[in-house]
Amino acid sequence: MIGNEDITSQQAKIDEKSPLLMMDQDPQTAANNIIQLANATPFGVGGRRACYVHPDDASKCIKVLRQDAQRTVRIQKKGNLFPRSWRREYDNNAHEEKLLSRIHAQIGSKMLSHLPMCYGFVSTDLGKGLVLDLIRDHDGKISRSLREWITLGIDLESIKPAFMDLGNFLIEHSILTRHILDHNLALSLGRSGGRTFYLIDGIGDAAWLPLAQWFRPLGRLKIKRKLDAAWPRFKAFAINGGVTDQLKENSSWGQGILQHRD
Ligand SMILES: Nc1ncnc2c1ncn2[C@@H]1O[C@H](COP(=O)(O)OP(=O)(O)O)[C@@H](O)[C@H]1O
Ligand SMILES: [Mg+2]
Repeated sequence: MIGNEDITSQQAKIDEKSPLLMMDQDPQTAANNIIQLANATPFGVGGRRACYVHPDDASKCIKVLRQDAQRTVRIQKKGNLFPRSWRREYDNNAHEEKLLSRIHAQIGSKMLSHLPMCYGFVSTDLGKGLVLDLIRDHDGKISRSLREWITLGIDLESIKPAFMDLGNFLIEHSILTRHILDHNLALSLGRSGGRTFYLIDGIGDAAWLPLAQWFRPLGRLKIKRKLDAAWPRFKAFAINGGVTDQLKENSSWGQGILQHRD
């Protein structure tokens, strides 16, 4: 569980054991250790991944790539010179594991203030799953996304300071993001009224040539632009009433609305 107050205990946990365990096992051992998810209800379903509470550790989640025909398919940008059909489907989990590991190597447990820690891959009955911190509120319930909060009618101005904190963190550590989307932000409610945004998806640079990664000032400018573009988008979405029943019904993904919060 992560909230403002829980960061210290999270840090202690990280110091105890290496967070980036890759489970490379022989096939027999692996078969015995397959985590059963297929009969569980995912708490969140994005365009590409389904997210489950880790059955052995409720402070973590397991994300598996969706295999159904309705999933959002993005083809890898790298290798734009090749025909689309030759290029591989983008693997969200692999990319995220790489980026979160890199951030951890660079800034250590400071990342826990606004990002989930990544614990590597496990085998599940739904395929390879990525283990990450699950963001929860002080009462233990899974934190809702900003998109869900907008739909519930939250006053955006009340959470602007929390968004600024996230922005300052991203800029300070030069953490590049794709478009900052309301369904990729989990808002954790702290015990004493504090609110903390966690970017649970969408880190990285969409550009093929990583210029913004190489030149920090350029990277920072890019992050600022993403932050500046995000807030008016949230406001416009709030004015339009958030996720409507119709939008949810016609959607091939969960629209950032949790299916359960346990
Ligand atoms: N670590 C997390 N903590 C809390 N909620 C999460 C977490 N990861 C995902 N979610 C919820 O699950 C939804 C889908 O997850 P996401 O990782 O964004 O999938 P996708 O990569 O398919 O977009 C999110 O919109 C969010 O509501
Ligand atoms: Mg997402």
